[in-house]
Amino acid sequence: MSAVIDFPPVTRSALRIVGGSVPVPVSGGRTVPYANLDYAASAPCLEPVRDALDAALPYYSSVHRGAGYASQVTTDRYERARETVRAFVGAWQRDAVVFTRNTTDAMNLLSHVLPRGTTVVVFESEHHANLLPWQRGNRVVRLPAPHSPAAAVAAAGEALRSAPSGPRLLVVTAASNVTGELWPVAELARVARQHGARIAVDAAQFVAHRPLDMAALDVDYVAFSGHKLYAPFGAGCLVGRADWLRAAEPYLLGGGATAAVGERVTWSADPEQRHEAGTPNVLGVVALAAACEALSDWDSLVAEEERLLDRLRTGLAAIPGVRELSLWGDQNPRVGIVSFVVEGRDSRALATALSDQYGIGVRDGKFCAHPFVRRLVGEGSGGCESDGTALRASFGIGTTGEHIDRLLAALRRLAV
Ligand code: ALA
Repeated sequence: MSAVIDFPPVTRSALRIVGGSVPVPVSGGRTVPYANLDYAASAPCLEPVRDALDAALPYYSSVHRGAGYASQVTTDRYERARETVRAFVGAWQRDAVVFTRNTTDAMNLLSHVLPRGTTVVVFESEHHANLLPWQRGNRVVRLPAPHSPAAAVAAAGEALRSAPSGPRLLVVTAASNVTGELWPVAELARVARQHGARIAVDAAQFVAHRPLDMAALDVDYVAFSGHKLYAPFGAGCLVGRADWLRAAEPYLLGGGATAAVGERVTWSADPEQRHEAGTPNVLGVVALAAACEALSDWDSLVAEEERLLDRLRTGLAAIPGVRELSLWGDQNPRVGIVSFVVEGRDSRALATALSDQYGIGVRDGKFCAHPFVRRLVGEGSGGCESDGTALRASFGIGTTGEHIDRLLAALRRLAV
């Protein structure tokens, strides 16, 4: 193969997002710069991600099965992206990095490859991507949302201890998509080990906010999505132990997953190829890898996020009728995600007013975590909140103090 070109290095400092001050219409015929506070659903694109795509596009071609130069370049980029993702999450060299569409897809893939008779232990506080896929053919132990991190570890340990013999998998989020609270992943991994279980971590809401080190945490699988990691081009991944992936029937049956096709089909023994049938989302993967490379200055990212989080939470606490949703109380560490209810007010109507009158984008509803939001909204509400839904403000790179202040000022007016 000819030497493939080098692409420009990904910018890592002074990260900016695409569309940071895009104008949006508000009532009265005016426009205002958009205050995007919905990063937990889909984060905006980072400029270095866009630049990486611009550089890759002229060479965009097929992967793995083309002899042309562009195909060689594209294949090289695609395969190198696995190493970038591996380094980003601190995976072992032995781990497989399978590209998927998103976290939901990754967890469905993992569920698909579990050996027959696996017991899956999961908390009801998970979002649906990490709550529902396990139902397919596995024995599922669903635990109630725990009252403290220590209670989470104790409950998981007890469930794993009393699981029937056979493979066991504990699945847990690293950061809640509802409350932003960080889960005790290292302790949960330890308890999983004590009971001979594996642990899979849903890092969808974590990796844009904190560095992840699978080897240090001793976790077996990690899943996350590009669209929550400033790479909104439809790629995600499952990273982890190769043995179950290698042993299972391919996730999708088709070209690329095969070693030989005749009367009988021999599937690829490579755990990545085996589960990536069809032409993959190359540009999504290039974008995902660029985001992983760009996010490196964690100290300043975390410091800025903590500053904004404090401003938001302090401001919300001072507005009469506003109640922040929290599983483990004020002090538990969390990422830049805050859900809340406003007493006697309909969440959808408030979210609509925030958009129409103030140019602020938040999410309302149950955030694809129905059992958890039902529990949090119901608890302590005295039945005040109208329909069991909530509002969620979530943020990251590109969010400013003005965005937070605008939300607080708007809520002070709308909450009365
Ligand atoms: N994508 C869902 C969210 O916004 C789960 O949190």
